[in-house]
Amino acid sequence: MKKPNLAVDFCGVRFPNPFVLAAAPPTDDAEMIARGFEAGWAGAVVKTLGLEHVEVNLVSPMMVGMDYEDKRLVALQNIDLISDRDIREVLPEVRELKKSYPDRIVIVSIMASTEAEWKEITRRVQEAGADMIECSFSCPHGMPERGMGSAVGQNAELTYERAKWVAEAAEIPVLIKLTPNVTDMRPVAEKVKEAGAEGVTCINTVKGLIGFDLDTMAPIPSVEGYSTEGGISGPAIKPIALRFVADVARDVGIPVAGVGGVVTWKDAAEFLLAGAGIVEVCTAVMRYGYDIIEELNEGLALYLEDKGLASPMDLVGKGLPKIVGHGELSRATKVLATVDEDTCIGCGACVIACRDGGHQAIEFAGPDAGEDARVPKVDDEKCIGCGFCRTVCPVEGCLTMQPREEKISA
Ligand SMILES: Cc1cc2nc3c(=O)[nH]c(=O)nc-3n(C[C@H](O)[C@H](O)[C@H](O)COP(=O)(O)O)c2cc1C
Repeated sequence: MKKPNLAVDFCGVRFPNPFVLAAAPPTDDAEMIARGFEAGWAGAVVKTLGLEHVEVNLVSPMMVGMDYEDKRLVALQNIDLISDRDIREVLPEVRELKKSYPDRIVIVSIMASTEAEWKEITRRVQEAGADMIECSFSCPHGMPERGMGSAVGQNAELTYERAKWVAEAAEIPVLIKLTPNVTDMRPVAEKVKEAGAEGVTCINTVKGLIGFDLDTMAPIPSVEGYSTEGGISGPAIKPIALRFVADVARDVGIPVAGVGGVVTWKDAAEFLLAGAGIVEVCTAVMRYGYDIIEELNEGLALYLEDKGLASPMDLVGKGLPKIVGHGELSRATKVLATVDEDTCIGCGACVIACRDGGHQAIEFAGPDAGEDARVPKVDDEKCIGCGFCRTVCPVEGCLTMQPREEKISA
């Protein structure tokens, strides 16, 4: 079989692979984007630009991470704003970038206020040679106070109106970046489609309050002792992003650029399965650098080869038919926790989890078992097959859930 070709067609544009740098600090100037392109990224969304008269007054610090156990940066909160660079400087850089990297896709993210401004910025970005436009209707902090950002993406009518202005002015494909800070993104995405934009990008950051400094008792990041709610990104938001991508891809039928929490090729493959046509990455690039593209490209190519697929496009939406309503899930098969005694390290994580978070179905074999005293034993009568014990077992493949009948008769 031939090696898979990673190129994808998305909204009528050919990307050399499905991976694109999301609008954020890694795309705030052309020198940085060029390094990303050299590393192998197929495209970049230039960090959101406003017109020259829009004041962008940044605070510092504007980012703080959330650690969990020994893992740093499970989530990142930012209170950054759109780019503070002058659009008159950035657009000539876009032109040069396209000259130097004609096969790479330059998408420019924009934000404006009135119809005249949205149309003006659209035209100027287009004249600079951008391949696509991404409109940020989704920043959860700062901009909503001025009637922009997520104040737009949370309102289907405002979304329709603004998306239409841009779609009318644009001759290149338009993506509308939506906010996850809504109960249901589908009505908003429907309006994007109705307005004539080519696709949606989902998601922007999730509004949150990442924590407090216990010494000062003030929220973080501390800006002279004060803070504000911000946008959460990174691995913690992946499930939220996947859910919105799947909802929109399945029920609205509009091309989706997926973004939120992607670190590895496996995350990216999941976004494709959920219906994303391309995958954007921000926090992982900020943390690990542009070179993660190698792992993304190589991992995805090997996965496709392993599955006998020729293109990432063969994955797009392939997981959607298996997402059903809760009521439609089968009740026919019941599973049972099953411990592989050979690989069990006797840590007791499953015993505690089942005792205090489950159904008291797992206990250590006890002193009578001699050497096996710390091997967990599952009480088949009490186990309801909830699966929680498996989530805490530190040994891959040691604690599995097996169909009840097979397990009991084995
Ligand atoms: C510091 C920072 C700045 C960002 N700036 C923008 C921006 O200017 N425009 C935009 O549409 N999204 C912006 N984002 C959101 C990202 O593009 C992306 O949607 C979000 O971080 C989720 O992806 P991730 O989990 O891969 O980071 C920013 C994110 C971060 C962390």
